[in-house]
Formats: sequence, structure tokens, C-alpha cells
Amino acid sequence: MVTASPVRIDRGRIEELTEREQKTLDARTPKSGEMYEWARKTLSGGVASSYQVRDPWPIYLEKGHGSKVWDVDGTEMVDFHNGFGSMVQGHAHPAIVEAVQRQVARGTHFAAPVEDAIVISEELVRRFGLPQWRYVNSGSEATMDAIRIARAFTGRDTIVKIFGSYHGHHDYVMVSISVPYENIGDPDNYASLPYGAGIPKAASDLTIAVPFNDAGAMERRIERLFDEGRPPACVIMEPAMMNLGVVLPEPGYLEAVREITKRHGVVLIFDEVKTGLCVAPGGATEKFGVLPDMVTMAKALGGGLPSGAIGGSEEVMEVVNNGSVYQVGTYNGNPLTMAAARASLEKVLTPEAYQHLDMLNDRLMAGCDAVLEKYNLPGYTVGISSKGCVTFSPTKITDYASFQASHDGELTDLAWLYMMNRGVFMTPGREEEWTLSVAHSVQDADTYVAAFEELAHDLVA
Ligand SMILES: Cc1ncc(COP(=O)(O)O)c(C=O)c1O
Repeated sequence: MVTASPVRIDRGRIEELTEREQKTLDARTPKSGEMYEWARKTLSGGVASSYQVRDPWPIYLEKGHGSKVWDVDGTEMVDFHNGFGSMVQGHAHPAIVEAVQRQVARGTHFAAPVEDAIVISEELVRRFGLPQWRYVNSGSEATMDAIRIARAFTGRDTIVKIFGSYHGHHDYVMVSISVPYENIGDPDNYASLPYGAGIPKAASDLTIAVPFNDAGAMERRIERLFDEGRPPACVIMEPAMMNLGVVLPEPGYLEAVREITKRHGVVLIFDEVKTGLCVAPGGATEKFGVLPDMVTMAKALGGGLPSGAIGGSEEVMEVVNNGSVYQVGTYNGNPLTMAAARASLEKVLTPEAYQHLDMLNDRLMAGCDAVLEKYNLPGYTVGISSKGCVTFSPTKITDYASFQASHDGELTDLAWLYMMNRGVFMTPGREEEWTLSVAHSVQDADTYVAAFEELAHDLVA
């Protein structure tokens, strides 16, 4: 729901509240500040991944249990970050703790196949409807290997992705995302711009971006690539974009993409690293009812252990089966990860778990919508099962261009500070959504809505 004739929010008020909330957060996280000073001496930027960087310091965590996490200053928070949505099971779920403890005492790594790997692939076949699977250790590995498989299957080098979508940190996909918007060109001819330094132009030139929710633009670009003698091997895309808040596919879009890719012999890869197992038992593939040729997964699969998987059709995965593609990795199918994943699939992510997530998300969305309406704020809520967000934009965001044009980044930053100061732990980026776990309660959802209402009240006060 987009608010009709919203109030104009005074920019000075946002600045004033941001300054106040920033001071409050700094004052309540002194141990994180000290830890940062210690960490930065030997840990680049004081963190293990650049996505954890935050000014003036990151919030260091100590432990997690169920829906809660505790920072090093001892503050308890309801976790809506959930490790970028990896912890849909909640922290330290007893079934996963038990499975990991049992396995750790029986050996943590063999680099030889184990029974749990078979049980999991059978379950993934059942959930996602793709018949052949392999394991990896992260989302980046999943998308990297899936693209290689698609290239081998088609004998083509070029790939197509959605402009602004994130698919991991390898060279093939660190392209046309978070780049200076003025440089990107028109939607029928988006530039292939590397995301950060160190990505060879030869690699980024092979990746072509098209806008989300525009099947016509995708087809025109694919046809041009054929005309230019560089037909694409695959389209890799999230069925619902999860890095601009949440952007859902418009009705008919995914069906059209499926039809276009099939007609042109282009492998369709649904990157379900965020959505897989989190928005339905069979991910977005099940939720939207469109079957791709391949699915990539990671995050929630391992119940908090580094994991990932690639599923594919018989035809596409034949290049792995016949040995022409080396889909390899020392830690693929690691016994500890497999034990956690099996416990998660069999004992945690049950049909009732998805009902619970849907119920909570509906409650969160309804609560935030009511706040937006009450205070007449420019924004709307959008969500899907365990994920959702308030998008601060007076108009609906359907792709990266509309996000860039109307998303209110300063207000989003302020919302983050409000949450963090009111017992709600959130991801530090402007583009992230809330994520839920099976351990979250109605009370947890209400804590979020109450913090959001304080923000709304103070903004218009
Ligand atoms: C859709 C998507 N694909 C791939 C990745 C990369 O996963 P990882 O960070 O595990 O390498 C991410 C990470 O956020 C993602 O959101």
C-alpha cells in the first residue's frame, strides 16, 4: 500500500533525530568501540567482511539464542538481521545444536561423501522440483559454479543479470550493482560496470545487465546479443529482489522470463541464496510457480554453518555428471554442515514453521502499514513470508532505477538507528529488509512495530 498524499518530512528534522540517535547508540556501545580499536590493528577495518563495516564502529556480538542476540555491551536485542537472513531457524535451535554436537564428536571433515548429503538432496528435489544437486560452501560459490555449468552446457560465454542485483563476490557477478547511477546508460543498453576495484574488464564485459520487472527489455537485449555474435549462456536473477528492501516480481514477469529464456535456449538460474527455504518450503520457485533450469542456494541451508547448493535439470547437470565441468571443493558436503542442514530440513523448517513465518510477517506488515497510515508517511510495506521491509518511497519501487530515483536513504539510516536503540538488531545497509526466524514471537514482531511507531511519531512531531 502506498500512502496517498503523504506529509513532506522536514529534512532538518531527520538530521536532528539522526544526530540524537547516533549519540545514544555510541553511548550505549562503548565496548564495541573498544573492541573496534583492538580489532583494527590486525583485522582490516576491524571486521571479517566489508559488509560488516560501520562508522564509527561496528556492533560486535557475543551470543545468540532463539530470536535474540546480545552485543558485547550485554544489550539484548530481537534479531531481525539474522545473519543476512541465514538464521531462519533462530539461533542455537536445539535440533541443530544436537545434530552438530553429535557429528562433531564423530569427525568434522572427510572430503568423502556422507549419508546426510543424500538425504538432503532428496529433500531438495522434493521441495524445488529440480532432479540433480551439488553442494558448495557459500552463495558466491553457488552462483559461480552455476554460471560455469550454464556456460559449459550452452558453449556460450556472455551472461545476463538484473541491474542492481547482488549474486556474490566473484568476478562474473560483481558487475552493474551499486555503481554510480549517472553512468549506467538507458535500460535497453545498461553499461557493464565493475563493483569495486580488482575486477578485470575482460570479466565484467561478459556480464550484461537488464532491468528487473521488464521482460521486454530483457528479450530485446538477448536478441541484440545474438545479433552481435555473443549470445548469452544464462540469465541469473533473484525471482524477488532482496537487496533493495524487497522488490516483488510483477504479475506475469517471471512467466515471461521463463518463456523468453526457453525460446532462446538460455539457461534460467534462479538465485535463491536469500529466498530459498525462507519464503516457502521450496523457496521462490515454489512460491511463484515458475520452474527455472537451475537454482542456487546458500545462507539458510546450513542452519548457520557455511553452506550452499546448486540444483539443476537432468540436461543441464549432465555436464557435471559426464565430467566435462569440474564442480569441486574440499569442503563441499562437509559432514558438520550436512548434519546441520539435515536437522534443519527434517525438524525445523516444517510446514508449521512456514505458517508461523507467514503469520508473523503479515502481522509486521499490517502493523507498519497502520503506522504509515496513521502518521501519513511516504512509504509502504512489502514482504514475503520471513522477509519484508518498509520502503521509504512515495511511489512503488519495481527495479533499481525506481529505487535510485525515489528511495529515501537518509530516512532509512535513521530508521536503523531507531531500531538499534530500541532493542531491534538490524543489518547495517540501506537496502536490507527485516528477516524473521521460526523462534520469533508475536511479541518480537510487536517490539519492531512499536519502535517503528516511535520513529513515525518523532518525525512528524
Ligand atoms: C542473492 C544472493 N546471491 C549470492 C550471495 C552471495 O552469498 P555469500 O555471501 O554466501 O557468498 C548473496 C549474499 O548476500 C545473495 O544475497
